[in-house]
Amino acid sequence: MSDKPGSRILLGISGGIAAYKAVELVRRLRADGAEVQVVMTRAAAAFVAPLTLQAVSGRPVRQALLDPQAEAGMDHIELARWADLLLVAPATAHLMARLALGLADDLLTTLALATEAPLVLAPAMNHRMWTNPATQEHLARLVARGVRVLGPASGAQACGEEGPGRMLEPAEIVAALAPEAWPGRAGHRTGPLAGRCVLITAGPTREPLDPVRFIGNRSSGRMGYALAAALAARGAAVTLISGPSALAPPPVADFVRVETALEMAAAVMERVAGCDLFVATAAVADYRPAAPAAGKIKKAAAALTIELVRNPDILAEVAALPGGPFTVGFAAETERLEEHATAKLRAKGLDMIAANRVGTGAGGFDTDDNALVVLWPGGRRAFPLMPKTLLADQLADLIVERYLASLAG
Ligand code: C5P
Repeated sequence: MSDKPGSRILLGISGGIAAYKAVELVRRLRADGAEVQVVMTRAAAAFVAPLTLQAVSGRPVRQALLDPQAEAGMDHIELARWADLLLVAPATAHLMARLALGLADDLLTTLALATEAPLVLAPAMNHRMWTNPATQEHLARLVARGVRVLGPASGAQACGEEGPGRMLEPAEIVAALAPEAWPGRAGHRTGPLAGRCVLITAGPTREPLDPVRFIGNRSSGRMGYALAAALAARGAAVTLISGPSALAPPPVADFVRVETALEMAAAVMERVAGCDLFVATAAVADYRPAAPAAGKIKKAAAALTIELVRNPDILAEVAALPGGPFTVGFAAETERLEEHATAKLRAKGLDMIAANRVGTGAGGFDTDDNALVVLWPGGRRAFPLMPKTLLADQLADLIVERYLASLAG
């Protein structure tokens, strides 16, 4: 990685409909000071014109492995050395399979093998292709090799179906890359949490009833996003796992979008190994419909009964991991705040819990302000009503204090 304020990014584009978003991605990366060299697969050129990418990147696009003209300038090995970061967006199922196998049958896969730069993928594909065990196996292999995977997001797809497989928006990708691509930026990787890894959940979850309806809650994600930013500002490498939220991702090392509690649990469990702190701000649905309907539920009967089953308690599972991270939970209560929070602290075996009153008066879900009482074994601190960003800052300081005390003790 160069120590310039900008970064040299090799942007690989593979052949999916999301390739059109690469134009905006290049524009945003350059606006943030990066030099961008685009490498397209043959299929990518069917979705977006190389000339368009040449115009936005300000450099000729590279497509062929054996291009006599290009090789006379910067050959593929020089290109591999030049890069501070290899980002592939969109990364198709086929591209991920080729990377997992270590194939080098075109310029992009050859560069992936030849470069020492970190590899980051933003997958995009039909949701059935994403959940197919073959793709998931390739994903697991790539992640085990240290490849960073951003997304995909869940939602409406170009094919008309719904599910996980949408490429993250260019702004989300740039935000997630920020600490890696611009390591010299102010405030990064210095501070009391430098070198520490933080996993944080935020936002609500959505539990599908049928393809168009879900059970959700009023969580906006504001507190979690603000806390993720505050912990990143204290030097931590933060991974934010977020349920559906309208907020722009904060500047964290990794941003993962999920929809359901099961997806959130899987995303957490995949990443928790080796993490130092786990902060659960998400308002996770305790229950999900036992059997979501395959088609839209019709209003035929006078009454409708839906059976719900329990979701995994992500926080309790993480707290129970042997040698697991320092755990911080949240408790939203409508009554007997401290009593319930103390019980949760004990029952889930947490290191800290932040309790706030909801449903009455100011603060709580979907508001800008909040007040908290934070409890830990043998201690307590109250924070009065204040904007969530300010509160996140003060809470982050307390988390640092308690975490460092736990190491010392
Ligand atoms: O037990 P209760 O749901 O009130 O606990 C709230 C805390 O547990 C929050 O920190 C929340 O993020 C976390 N939680 C979780 N998984 C669940 C339910 C809650 O991580 N299924």
